[in-house]
Amino acid sequence: MLKHFKRTLVTAALPYANGPVHIGHLAGCYLPSDIYVRYLRSKGEDVVFICGSDEHGVPITIKAKKEGITPQQVVDKYHKMMGDAFRDFGISFDIYSRTSSKVHHETASGFFKTLYDKGSFTEQVTEQYYDEEAKQFLADRYITGECPKCGNPNAYGDQCESCGSSLNATDLKNPKSTLSGSAPVLKQTKNWFLPLDKLQPKIADYLSQHTDWKTNVYGQCKSWLDSGDGLQPRAMTRDLDWGVPVPVKGADGKVLYVWFDAPIGYISATKELMPDKWETYWKDKDTRLIHFIGKDNIVFHCIIFPAMLMEHGEFVLADNVPANEFLNLEGDKISTSRNWAVWLHEYLIDFKDQQDILRYSLCANAPETKDNDFTWKDFQTKNNSELGDILGNFINRVMVLTNKNYNCIVPEASEYTKADLLVLEEMAKAPDKISEALDKFKFREALAEMMNLARIGNKYLAEQEPWKLIKSDEKRVKTVMNISIQIAANLAIVCEPFIPFTSKKLFDLLNLAPLKWRSAKNTNNVHAGHKISDQSGILFSKIEDTDIQPQLDKLENSKKENASSNAKIEPAKAETSFEEFSKMDIRVGTILEAERVPKTDKLLKLKIDTGIDQRTVVSGIAQWYKPEDIIGQQVNILVNLAPRKIKGIESQGMILMAENALGELSFVVPSKKEMNNGSNVK
Ligand code: MF3
Ligand code: ZN
Repeated sequence: MLKHFKRTLVTAALPYANGPVHIGHLAGCYLPSDIYVRYLRSKGEDVVFICGSDEHGVPITIKAKKEGITPQQVVDKYHKMMGDAFRDFGISFDIYSRTSSKVHHETASGFFKTLYDKGSFTEQVTEQYYDEEAKQFLADRYITGECPKCGNPNAYGDQCESCGSSLNATDLKNPKSTLSGSAPVLKQTKNWFLPLDKLQPKIADYLSQHTDWKTNVYGQCKSWLDSGDGLQPRAMTRDLDWGVPVPVKGADGKVLYVWFDAPIGYISATKELMPDKWETYWKDKDTRLIHFIGKDNIVFHCIIFPAMLMEHGEFVLADNVPANEFLNLEGDKISTSRNWAVWLHEYLIDFKDQQDILRYSLCANAPETKDNDFTWKDFQTKNNSELGDILGNFINRVMVLTNKNYNCIVPEASEYTKADLLVLEEMAKAPDKISEALDKFKFREALAEMMNLARIGNKYLAEQEPWKLIKSDEKRVKTVMNISIQIAANLAIVCEPFIPFTSKKLFDLLNLAPLKWRSAKNTNNVHAGHKISDQSGILFSKIEDTDIQPQLDKLENSKKENASSNAKIEPAKAETSFEEFSKMDIRVGTILEAERVPKTDKLLKLKIDTGIDQRTVVSGIAQWYKPEDIIGQQVNILVNLAPRKIKGIESQGMILMAENALGELSFVVPSKKEMNNGSNVK
């Protein structure tokens, strides 16, 4: 039995403001939290939905360095972009705040001060890595090395993204500065530590009250507590110049650890949203606090932040932390730096007003219990065979039949047959089935139950065949259509959390003001005599192969660009002399004829005017140039290369080609037209 709470405070992880939002963000945490919040709102519950940009920490300063702008410029740029993308996709935060705000600086600073005054921290001078070239301490993502737990060679100084362990930089083997690439040195510095070791019993007790959490979350927490020496003290301050300054004496040049300040951002944002009421949401025992996050954030939300809140006192602790696993894209890990992602702002350019298709396919494929894969093919199928063929088809039939037979006026139902009663019963059960899944954060299951209601509607229409019946039993058709319209109305209610744009359209089609969750059990939401819209009921149009091909091409391009930027440039060859070079006779020529060499993939047979003569050359460029495209093309040709037979053809010379690290070939040609055939290249 669920404990009853008066209100729910839902937070979605504050994303780093260091890049645009992609589908991985959406699927991991923002979509599920939005579905959940919309559902609670529809039920009429007191719920507040908090998010904002995480604007501190090394991810921001690294980005600033990369883009050659200041950290402030980075966060200004991306905060705006991210906020816009979330809003465009209907992510219905009550506030999208930011941690560079004044309220946040004060709140985070005050929080630290409270813990400091209580003596919660231990002050420790420790040796931390320092980059002598960059003259800077290396915290968190400024340092990479081998994870001591799983051997991942690219673990960060505060966390290994492979195994999820939270680390201290000094735990890494073979540490390397990400600033200069050099091996860092150890240098003494003073920091303030949260003694998680001493707090372990309290944290263990807290976790033991939450064995109901998702197994991936509970399991991860448990393994930290149980592994090796258990929890270790963790520095809550950093030697960096970007962040919230440490508000105590002797802390010049130090800022709060980003994972200390960011979760406090949830509190600051609530304050900003409700300056008078925020405390009720954070301090009243009747508040249920829920953190939606991705799996790489588990330790911070389930152990470190609760430990901070416990030390502070007064605050409620999270009642649940539904963390998702990761979403991959076309079989590969989503990556900002490799541009392997579907960016929300780009999606909306190519699929204007089609937010719900993405929301639907991401929810249907949510990485709830394991990592999952997004593919464009699946996206297409989800749209065509589910949204279109099931939901869209049902609504369209209802609209068309009501328009045609009843001039858009909802007909009256008379006696119900057994089949009618059955379908009404199933319809009335749908909202509870969906609720049950949503209450357990099983979004995929909930979505499937929602779609099931549309299936029920389709099946009912298919069995009753009102389009045939209209000739023989008009009265019966009225009942069938009345019931179908009720199903459509209830679908509009229960689909709202998942696909809110469609829900809105559906209510508009039915000419109804949006109804709330409790009405979804009714079997008579739309009264006889009510006039529905005469607009077309086509909610989803087909997505063709040609619509998704450009998306696949985009990814293919990213792959190529990555390969070329990663590909090694060959080192220079050994020195040569001018005499040696002068022995080569290179001329400008023009291709007169070109044809494929039969039974080969790579070879073209070319006839070339060298200015001196016309000759045949066999060249391995067929992968890169079509014969018909290169007639008249100027080339550079080495004319005094000894002739040799290739595939039975005597090749008299060699075309000079540029070749990149991927092995792609291109002609190298004079940049001026006046270079006629026979011109010397030297
Ligand atoms: N910025 C972090 C990330 O993107 C998440 C911060 S969540 C918060 O991984 F709790 F700290 F706000
Ligand atoms: Zn690891």
